[in-house]
Amino acid sequence: MSAGIVQAAYLVAAVLFIMSLAGLSKQETARAGNYYGIAGMGIALLATIFGPDAQGTSWIILAMVIGGGIGMHLAKKVEMTEMPELVAILHSFVGLAAVLVGFNTYIDHGELTGALLNIHLVEVFLGVFIGAVTFTGSIVAFGKLRGIIDSKSLMLPHRHKLNLAALVVSFLLMLYFVNVEGSTFALIVVTLIAFAFGYHLVASIGGADMPVVVSMLNSYSGWAAAAAGFMLANDLLIVTGALVGSSGAILSYIMCKAMNRSFISVIAGGFGTEVVVSSSDEEQGEHREASAEEVAEMLKDAKSVVITPGYGMAVAQAQYPVHEITDKLRAQGVNVRFGIHPVAGRLPGHMNVLLAEAKVPYDIVLEMDEINDDLSDTDVVLVIGANDTVNPAAMEDPNSPIAGMPVLEVWNAKHVIVFKRSMNTGYAGVQNPLFFKENTQMLFGDAKASVDDISKFL
Ligand code: TAP
Repeated sequence: MSAGIVQAAYLVAAVLFIMSLAGLSKQETARAGNYYGIAGMGIALLATIFGPDAQGTSWIILAMVIGGGIGMHLAKKVEMTEMPELVAILHSFVGLAAVLVGFNTYIDHGELTGALLNIHLVEVFLGVFIGAVTFTGSIVAFGKLRGIIDSKSLMLPHRHKLNLAALVVSFLLMLYFVNVEGSTFALIVVTLIAFAFGYHLVASIGGADMPVVVSMLNSYSGWAAAAAGFMLANDLLIVTGALVGSSGAILSYIMCKAMNRSFISVIAGGFGTEVVVSSSDEEQGEHREASAEEVAEMLKDAKSVVITPGYGMAVAQAQYPVHEITDKLRAQGVNVRFGIHPVAGRLPGHMNVLLAEAKVPYDIVLEMDEINDDLSDTDVVLVIGANDTVNPAAMEDPNSPIAGMPVLEVWNAKHVIVFKRSMNTGYAGVQNPLFFKENTQMLFGDAKASVDDISKFL
């Protein structure tokens, strides 16, 4: 394949990636968006493997078959609820790849001299730094999402000073690295500093801010790929990395707005969030329980019902019976709608995907801002496996780790039914005063079984 054809193929792939992002921005076009992405990546791989710069094609194909086989096996096995973990661990691979590409191009930098050599050394240094931060940061995110690492924020003394020191030392090392025209020692030291920096940055961010962290690491992995593109002089990798980097940054910004967090403070490892956390997970009074039959009666008498799903609906896979009771109630003339919190579940759009999978009509699925004002005129709210996203402490307790985060104000409705298995806390690890309110009743048990039971009585 000639260099001209490779460049043309890269251009087509880049356009397909942009079309893919555009497609993924809406539920209706998301499937097509995925296909554009697959086509773009297919073209990019073929052009690179059979292009004039590639060597050892059979080795590359062997590595792709092994890697692709493992990837396909894992992706098929992974549950929807484990998706963010998979994404986090995949980001760590991008980071590690950038570190390895950095070391490789440093060792084998050809005949570069003068300004070109300096530019190359800066590329290598930055690529390794960003890649190493992404690598350990993503591993911590994976651990927190999987529950292997405590989701509470790590509060080392002088943590911001430590971060600043790591950045300053890395910058000085870069000056030295360029000045002496390359130093393996400096590159190894900065890799170790960046590993520690990435670990500390993400470990310092509390559980409730994890949505921002995941999208931020997505962004970092894009910049790491772009840096690798510069080192390898591969235009498509630069474009693709920049697309991922900037779309991840925009998503992080949207997430921060949704959670009323400062973008800078989250990406700086919780900078400026020195609150005295009163994150008690103790129970705060008496709670009342309801049976499935009582809830069914309440629903039959209601004129308007709002369902606010959360992570527990995903765990229980309750979206199908939820759709079933929605249909039954609508057939009886009840106005049923869904209220979706922007960070409900464990990944952006998690609830929308589940409800779309169960074929719940899009027009009754509303966003938090669209439904919040209507909740005071709602007869029954069914909180199905949601917790942090319906926690009034976010509005009432300034010392709560979720303070300031906008929530679904379900307690304004006439009756609230909370579906969960126990009095355990949600992801952020704080107790929910909603459970002890006068108009709240708990329906304990697996959400799918509970909704199935209700359906029988409707
Ligand atoms: P969570 O606060 O995570 O609470 C989920 C609730 O579901 C738990 O209280 C749990 O209680 C219940 N549950 C679990 N399995 C269940 C089952 N089989 N049947 C019935 N209930 C079950 O939920 P949320 O309101 O969706 O909030 C999401 C949280 O995750 C937020 O803190 C958010 O910041 C964080 N987060 C979000 C994302 C994104 S992007 N969406 C990414 C990472 C983290 P029991 O154990 O008592 O059943």
